[in-house]
Amino acid sequence: MTSKTVAQLLKADFKSQDIDIKGWVRTFRANRFIALNDGSSLQNIQCVVDFENTDEKTLKRITTGAAVHIKGELIESQGKGQSVEIKVNKIIILGDSDPETYPIQPKKHSFEFLRENAHLRTRTNTFSAVMRLRSTLSFAIHKYFNDNGFYYMHTPIITGSDAEGAGEMFRVTGLDPKNPPLTETGAVNYKEDFFGKETNLTVSGQLEAESYAMSLGKVYTFGPTFRAENSNTSRHLAEFWMIEPEVAFMDLAGNMDLAEDFLKSVLSYILEHNREDLEFLEQRLLDEEKTKPQAERSEMSLIDKLKFVVDNNFKRVSYTEAIDILKNSKPNKKKQFNYIIEEWGADLQSEHERFLVEKHFKCPVILFDYPANIKAFYMRLNEDGKTVRAMDILFPGIGEMVGGSQREERLEVLKEKMKALEIDEEELWWYLDLRKYGTAVHSGFGLGFERLVMFVTGMGNIRDVIPFPRTPHNADF
Ligand code: 4AD
Ligand code: MG
Repeated sequence: MTSKTVAQLLKADFKSQDIDIKGWVRTFRANRFIALNDGSSLQNIQCVVDFENTDEKTLKRITTGAAVHIKGELIESQGKGQSVEIKVNKIIILGDSDPETYPIQPKKHSFEFLRENAHLRTRTNTFSAVMRLRSTLSFAIHKYFNDNGFYYMHTPIITGSDAEGAGEMFRVTGLDPKNPPLTETGAVNYKEDFFGKETNLTVSGQLEAESYAMSLGKVYTFGPTFRAENSNTSRHLAEFWMIEPEVAFMDLAGNMDLAEDFLKSVLSYILEHNREDLEFLEQRLLDEEKTKPQAERSEMSLIDKLKFVVDNNFKRVSYTEAIDILKNSKPNKKKQFNYIIEEWGADLQSEHERFLVEKHFKCPVILFDYPANIKAFYMRLNEDGKTVRAMDILFPGIGEMVGGSQREERLEVLKEKMKALEIDEEELWWYLDLRKYGTAVHSGFGLGFERLVMFVTGMGNIRDVIPFPRTPHNADF
C-alpha cells in the first residue's frame, strides 16, 4: 500500500498501483463519482465507486464534507476532465457530514458567509488556494533572508514600550478589572500588576530588532503584531503579521534597495512554485470583474501584475515631489479627494497614496523623506532639520505595503526628539544605550504580511487572507 496525496497521484505516471488515500468528499454524483480533496492540491481526484457492490448504507454516507478512506487502484481515466482516477475497491467512512446542515455546499458562497464559517472555509477552492499561497510566501520570506545572511530573531510580544508612539495598544494585565489596586491618587497601581509596570501587546518588533542588528549585523523578525486602532477597513487588522528586517551600517538608499529586491524575490518564488493556485485565483478575479463596468476592471491580470512588479523598477519619489504632484492633480483641484492637499506637511491619506500608484505612476512607488512631525520618533533627521529618512512603499490596489526608515543613531538628537514628544527616557534606556555604545548608521523596514498576501492573491479584503481575522468587534474562533 502506498499512502500518497492527491497532488502526488495526479502527477503520477504509474498506473494500477494499490492506492490508499484519505480526504474529504467535495461532491458525489450519480452514486458513483466522488470528487475527493485532501488539501494537497486545488484539484480533486475522481474516485469511482462500484455502486453495485457497495452496500446502500455506505453509499448514503458518502456526502459532501464527509471524511473517507479509500483503497483502490489508480487507473487511466475513462471519462473526460482528468487523466487518472481511482477505481475504488474499498471505502471506509471516517467521519460523516450531514448534508442538511453542512455549511459548505457545492455551490458559490459569499465571502461574508465564509468568514462566519472561517473554520470550514479552507474546504473551498478559493480559500485553500489563498492559504497555500500564504504558506509558500512565508517560506519564501524566510528563504530570502536565510539566503542573504540574515538571522531570524524572535522579539517579545508583551512589551512596555510603544514603538510607533501612536498609542494604539492592547493592554496586557493580570489585575482584576473590577477591583484593581489603586495608588494614593486613585489611579490603577500597575506596580502591583504581573510585570510591576504597564505592559501591552507589541505594535512592532523594531526596537528590539535594532538591538540585535547592532551586534549580529543583519536580522529580521516575522511575528504577530497588534494594533488597537479602530479602523474598520479592508486593509486593517487588529492582529497581523509583520516582517521586519534591520541592518547595521545600511542607509536609507540601501534600505530601499533591500525592500525592492526582497519583494521581487518573494514574488518570483511564488510565480515559480504556485502556478496552479495563482491561475485559479486569476480566473476567479476575471469572473468577478465581468460583473463590473469596464472602467472599474483592472488593466492587468493577476499573474501579469505580479510579473510587472518583478520586472520593473519601483519609482522612487520624495514626499515633497509627491505633494507637488498631488496638489496639481485633477481630484485635488476638483475637490474630489476627501482630504484636499493644501500644503507641504500634510499627512497622506490612502486616497492620495492610491492616486499616486494607481493613476499617476501606475507602478509600485517608494516615497521617502517625509516631514519629521508625521513620522515616528526614531527616524533619522535630515540635514534640512524638517524631514526624516523615512520610506513607505505603496502598491497598486493595496496602498501602503511597507513602512521603514534609517534610524536616528545620534544620541543627542534622539534624546531631543524624545523630549519633544514626551517619551520617557527611563523607559527606553536600553534603546539609548545602543546610541551610547558603538552607535552606527542602521536601517530597516516593516512589511505587513497580510497586505502582501492580498496583493499576491488578488483578494480585496484583508479578512480573507488570514485564517482567523481579528478586527473591531470580531474575535471569533
Ligand atoms: O508603517 P508601520 O506602522 O511601521 C512600523 O511598525 C515600523 N516599526 C516598521 C519598521 O520600520 N520596522 O507598519 C509597517 C507595515 C505597514 O506598512 C503595513 O503594511 C502594515 O505594517 N500594517 C498593517 N497591516 C494590517 N493591519 C494593520 N492594522 C496594519 N498596520 C500596519
Ligand atoms: Mg506606516
